[in-house]
Amino acid sequence: MAPRTLAAPDIELLAPIGSGGQATVYRGKLWSGGATKLVAVKLYGNSDAASWSYRAEREILWKADHPSIPKLLGFFDTTSESALIIELLSGISLARLIGSAHRNGALFSGGVIAYIACELLSALSYLHGGLDGKLSSVIHGDIAPDNIFLTDDGKVFLLDFGAVYSPHKKAQQLFGKRAYLAPEQLDGEAASIWSDLYSLGAVMFETAILRPFDFPQFAQEFALLRKCHVGLPETLFLSIRACLAPTASLRPKNASLLLKILRSGAFAAQEDEKQELARIVKVHLSTLTPGLAREF
Ligand SMILES: Nc1ncnc2c1ncn2[C@@H]1O[C@H](COP(=O)(O)OP(=O)(O)O)[C@@H](O)[C@H]1O
Ligand SMILES: [Mg+2]
Repeated sequence: MAPRTLAAPDIELLAPIGSGGQATVYRGKLWSGGATKLVAVKLYGNSDAASWSYRAEREILWKADHPSIPKLLGFFDTTSESALIIELLSGISLARLIGSAHRNGALFSGGVIAYIACELLSALSYLHGGLDGKLSSVIHGDIAPDNIFLTDDGKVFLLDFGAVYSPHKKAQQLFGKRAYLAPEQLDGEAASIWSDLYSLGAVMFETAILRPFDFPQFAQEFALLRKCHVGLPETLFLSIRACLAPTASLRPKNASLLLKILRSGAFAAQEDEKQELARIVKVHLSTLTPGLAREF
């Protein structure tokens, strides 16, 4: 189904499933050609910042064609409300999965972490390359565990394109979450492909040891990563450390190069890791309270 302009009456909002700074995401029902379909409805507030985010995200989702970026089904935009209608994913955000794994005291295997990293790097490489030339380079700007979604069939999605960097945005406007922002962004510099790689490194660090990276403790943090996760493939350990380099020029040159290195070194059996991730997501969904599980 190609994205199309919708009228609000085509949509019925069911339950809220998530929210961030500028929007709330609902599970919803879309009426289309006499049939109904369950969808995700991302409803934006009406501040200037929300309207900026809405436009940015609509453009990216409209133009993107990548297995790790959800499909835009439609949108509506009236004077009082704007919303994006997006394919409904069945699974759990990485933030929730990390929280749930932490409570259960279970680490993810090195292979699963490498698989998630590779899927995200593939999406980043696509964005940074301007969606295969459709746009100039797109910087995500808000890579964090609650903007990463894992499905019960083992797919990895990058969500939330409301903070994408554009030349209209002033460098001082910080959209991402502090724990995942590169040190140069905290110093007021603009986001770049290397700040996205830093954020990805911070997310992978947290996925490995189930708590956020503590930048001021840089050296001790990597000693701890090695000690806490002995099963982490060496290539993956070195990649996470390279992404988290304090200076952008010391980080990997770009996402596609890092992806190539990881794919050749860290793991070969992608399908096995995908199945393992699907199993983990299903287990964690079934242990959530029934009320929460229904919302996914
Ligand atoms: N297409 C989707 N299918 C299922 N859940 C989604 C979808 N999009 C977002 N979510 C859920 O909603 C949460 C917030 O979505 P996000 O796009 O990050 O909105 P915000 O801009 O408000 O942060 C996500 O963490 C995820 O759990
Ligand atoms: Mg978000």
